[in-house]
Amino acid sequence: MQNKEHLLHFSDLNSEIFSLLNSLQEALFLCDEQQKISDVNDIFAQLLGYTKEQIIGKTLVELTDDENIASVTAFCQNPPSNGAEIILQTKDLQQVYFFVKVKNITINNYDVKLFTLSDITKIKIENQHLLRQSKLAQMGEMINMIAHQWRQPLNAISASAIKLSMQNQLDLLTSKEVEKTSSFIQDSAQKMSQTINDFMNFTKPKQEKESIFLDDLLNEIFSLIENQLKDHNIEVEVSSEVDFPLYIPKQELQHVLINLITNARDALNEAQQEEKKIIIKTNFNNNICTITVEDNAGGIPDEHKEQIFEPYFTTKEQGKGTGIGLYMSRKILKELLNGEIAVSNKNGGASFEVILHNPKVDKDAVK
Ligand SMILES: Nc1ncnc2c1ncn2[C@@H]1O[C@H](COP(=O)(O)OP(=O)(O)OP(=O)(O)O)[C@@H](O)[C@H]1O
Ligand SMILES: [Mg+2]
Repeated sequence: MQNKEHLLHFSDLNSEIFSLLNSLQEALFLCDEQQKISDVNDIFAQLLGYTKEQIIGKTLVELTDDENIASVTAFCQNPPSNGAEIILQTKDLQQVYFFVKVKNITINNYDVKLFTLSDITKIKIENQHLLRQSKLAQMGEMINMIAHQWRQPLNAISASAIKLSMQNQLDLLTSKEVEKTSSFIQDSAQKMSQTINDFMNFTKPKQEKESIFLDDLLNEIFSLIENQLKDHNIEVEVSSEVDFPLYIPKQELQHVLINLITNARDALNEAQQEEKKIIIKTNFNNNICTITVEDNAGGIPDEHKEQIFEPYFTTKEQGKGTGIGLYMSRKILKELLNGEIAVSNKNGGASFEVILHNPKVDKDAVK
């Protein structure tokens, strides 16, 4: 440790190392003990649209926007040893996503921090685009489900109206009959309204964690999709061994499970089986929660097992699949649910296992 007045610059290094650092594609800068940037390489300055002189002397926090000050401050105070993602702001106010690693080093007896940054903006934007696409695809699915759920009560309401009118024309209409039909129409409309409520629950724009019972979450999904499954003669069996709530981002887990259930439905629609089945099991063991979605539609050919998680891999005809369901599911699990997904073929079909590591649970909660 030496006098702090001296700012260490890359140029204090051996001139070959200095020119090497400047020619790297990776952005780099040095920070002193007061967290002030003492030097940057060309790439870092270019990415942010500043000159080196404009950056030197600033802190990293001064290079971000209001939205990200808190996370950049937290990062600077305690940089994770395996790196982290941060968002900085360019001179013309654009956001740039970086993956940053920090190393404490001593050069010429000066203790400094060396920051290395990879620009991941492109990947981030592509992923946000995929997530939006996947959500849109799922909305399309849900509108389909609503249409299915509504068909039966709509037909029933329409038939009741015709019956009332005919009874009236034949002078057979009694007040008892009017009451009966009216309450039937009210019940049917109530069912339709419930479908909309269920749908709204899925599309609420929130990612917060909440306390959820897995069987409630599955019931909500099936209340939307059950008519569609019935129409395709698909039977569903749910066996839940987890009778306490998990504290997790509900919407994200729903997104994953709907992807898996609609995939099973699609596979079963293509299959020739007499008895079509989706079996869902939940289990909690050694702080690991597992949710298995199995079907008996023939499984996944070995040569596709790796590919199915790649973006845009689909075997469905155009318009029926975009190939991002499983890619997004794996990503959501990894990034938002501390989880993973595995697939195997068993019992004449595909078995997808959603694994959540150490989810927060409340074993004392009762329904
Ligand atoms: N349960 C399953 N049984 C058999 N094959 C499956 C099953 N689930 C997924 N697959 C295969 O994996 C591919 C990729 O699935 P994924 O959910 O990522 O995309 P998709 O369903 O084709 O389209 P999208 O979900 O974007 O509408 C499917 O096209 C299908 O070939
Ligand atoms: Mg899918």
